[in-house]
Amino acid sequence: MPVHINNKLPPTAAFRVLSAKNAKSKVKYAKSLTKSKERIQQHGEVFTPPEIVNDMLKMLPSKGKESVWRIENPAKFLEPACGEGAFLTEIYRRKLKQVDSNYNKEKKNNPSKKKEELQEWWEFNAALQTSSIYGIELLEDNAEQCTMNLIRIFLSFYMKNFPKTQNEKVIETIQFLISRNIIQGNALTYRRCSVSCGNVCDECEEMIFSEWIPKTENGAFLLIRKDYTYEGIVKAESIKKEIQNSLFAEVEKNVEHGLKKEYPPIFWKEIKYA
Ligand SMILES: C[S@@+](CC[C@H](N)C(=O)[O-])C[C@H]1O[C@@H](n2cnc3c(N)ncnc32)[C@H](O)[C@@H]1O
Repeated sequence: MPVHINNKLPPTAAFRVLSAKNAKSKVKYAKSLTKSKERIQQHGEVFTPPEIVNDMLKMLPSKGKESVWRIENPAKFLEPACGEGAFLTEIYRRKLKQVDSNYNKEKKNNPSKKKEELQEWWEFNAALQTSSIYGIELLEDNAEQCTMNLIRIFLSFYMKNFPKTQNEKVIETIQFLISRNIIQGNALTYRRCSVSCGNVCDECEEMIFSEWIPKTENGAFLLIRKDYTYEGIVKAESIKKEIQNSLFAEVEKNVEHGLKKEYPPIFWKEIKYA
């Protein structure tokens, strides 16, 4: 579950699923949310229907400074069993919609600003929203699909806004951020394993998540990358208490909890070379 979402199913969505027109459509609907009996039994793999995702996301604060879709200091989401990204993709869509809406205001309020500057404003803010979405998924195909789904969402927003002026480096940077933030691993052991051992073995490595901190220097947009172990993040007591606010905010105050490395600031489109 993403950190901002509680476990209660809104009755409206649950009711809609259960009241699908007839038994046949109920079965068809249920099948579209699963891949195989074995995967359900072994990994509990049942995807959340879009109606339920939407109803749950509607329960999040969406107004003013507390809005989880805000542009400033984007709210961070981590889903430790993200499947193909039923939640993360909808969260990402909402975040990018907010970037679009602020971009339109930015354009209106700064009529003399160059088109390229406005485009870079959109690109940087879209990158910050991208960098605030994290996922863990045990199964390789799901993790890959989730990554692809997120990349597709970015591309559709980017092409809609800038049909003729897309920048290859921006697309590469976004792909890099998404691929780093969605990890194929085991959320229970805090590890990723190249041989998918299912528990902990010599091949297992720690899962490392990066925090991406924005900085502006002489008008240039920079990012600072800080790497944390997932185990450190989860085990920081204060995070458990403050998990509703921000996943990493408390880690900064508790550096002993899993901070692995801090990189020097780098121009945001060069982040993959940090
Ligand atoms: C019930 S599905 C939910 C998927 C997604 N959150 C959704 O709502 O559609 C649970 C997912 O968790 C994955 N999973 C199971 N055990 C896991 C573990 N130990 N670590 C990470 N992911 C796990 C499964 O492969 C499956 O994709």
